[in-house]
Amino acid sequence: MSSFGKNIRVNIFGESHGPAIGVVIEGLKPGHRVDLDSIYGMMDRRRPGTGRDVTARKEKDRPEIISGVFNGVTTGMPLCAIIKNSDRRSGDYDEMRNIPRPGHSDYTAYVKYGGFNDVRGGGAFSGRLTAPLVFAGAMACDILRKSGIEIASHLLAVGDIEDTGLNNIEYDINQRKSILENPLPMIDRDAAKKAGLLVAKVRSDGDSIGSLIETSVYNIPAGTGGVGFDSFESNLAKVCFGVPGLKGIEFGKGFELHKMRGSEANDPFRLENGAVKTSSNNAGGLLGGISDGMPLVFNGVMKPTASIALEQDSVDLKNNVETRLAIRGRHDPCIGIRAVPVLEACAALVTLDYMMEA
Ligand SMILES: Cc1cc2nc3c(=O)[nH]c(=O)nc-3n(C[C@H](O)[C@H](O)[C@H](O)COP(=O)(O)O)c2cc1C
Repeated sequence: MSSFGKNIRVNIFGESHGPAIGVVIEGLKPGHRVDLDSIYGMMDRRRPGTGRDVTARKEKDRPEIISGVFNGVTTGMPLCAIIKNSDRRSGDYDEMRNIPRPGHSDYTAYVKYGGFNDVRGGGAFSGRLTAPLVFAGAMACDILRKSGIEIASHLLAVGDIEDTGLNNIEYDINQRKSILENPLPMIDRDAAKKAGLLVAKVRSDGDSIGSLIETSVYNIPAGTGGVGFDSFESNLAKVCFGVPGLKGIEFGKGFELHKMRGSEANDPFRLENGAVKTSSNNAGGLLGGISDGMPLVFNGVMKPTASIALEQDSVDLKNNVETRLAIRGRHDPCIGIRAVPVLEACAALVTLDYMMEA
């Protein structure tokens, strides 16, 4: 299923090189004015061919809203938006029909769908399907902003180049400005420049590189979330793992917790103007699957792009012989760069879903 959500339902559809991709969002309240500038701004950060990114595919990525909005305002009916695929070059993928790319979904999709799946550009497994997800997420960000909730995401690391972490105690608008202005979505300008050089080098080597994306959701009211299998972590992880190329997620100190003692890991409670806060935020703002009112912080690791120009071993499935494969066509050497607004969108949609419970 390509849908998620309880109070709002998000359904993504389409294939990378089909006529269009899109999203249906059900459950949005009526009366929300759709801010296209803000939506385009977030979608442009994910879009290929913007100069800041590193893929050669050129797409305008302007959504066409075909239902659920009247006179620029949501009606409360299912909102459907489509994005036409203008840059369709199916020829690049002919070889992949029979020779699966190592590290991509070609082989598993071939087995599961009996070879009937659309292989062009990865079909429904393509990163392109994250464009409608970002459209939905941008709408969610705008709705959340009205309740004072802000979200920031950035590349915390590209290879071994590390960025400064997001403020995990309170929202820092200057950090967000830097992320938007720097040559790569990072807080520290020097780190962004170094990471840019690394990505360029990796590309010229015909290779690709992994990355780590940190996201913080600020000002979620304490008590927002769910218990057990409906915990904030469960739902957020489920949606994030729908993003192709994401291979791991951790909340707060996450996988570092195994090295810590309780006395170090626990976030002591304190009072600030009568409100309960914690003085550290190792829990990433979540206790028992429910927000404690501190920023919700999580990291998602994006694997190195599977499609690389360097020759690799594969198997010719038609003739059942081993072979070699070098990927032609257009591919990001670091998918994490464009995945930053995608994880922001996931965080926004899951947070909005919980907020609508109140
Ligand atoms: C924004 C974005 C762009 C992507 N671009 C590419 C790409 O150009 N080439 C590629 O091989 N994979 C790309 N991917 C990742 C693949 O879609 C993904 O690795 C593949 O579907 C296999 O799924 P898995 O890695 O989650 O197992 C991209 C992912 C995202 C989020």
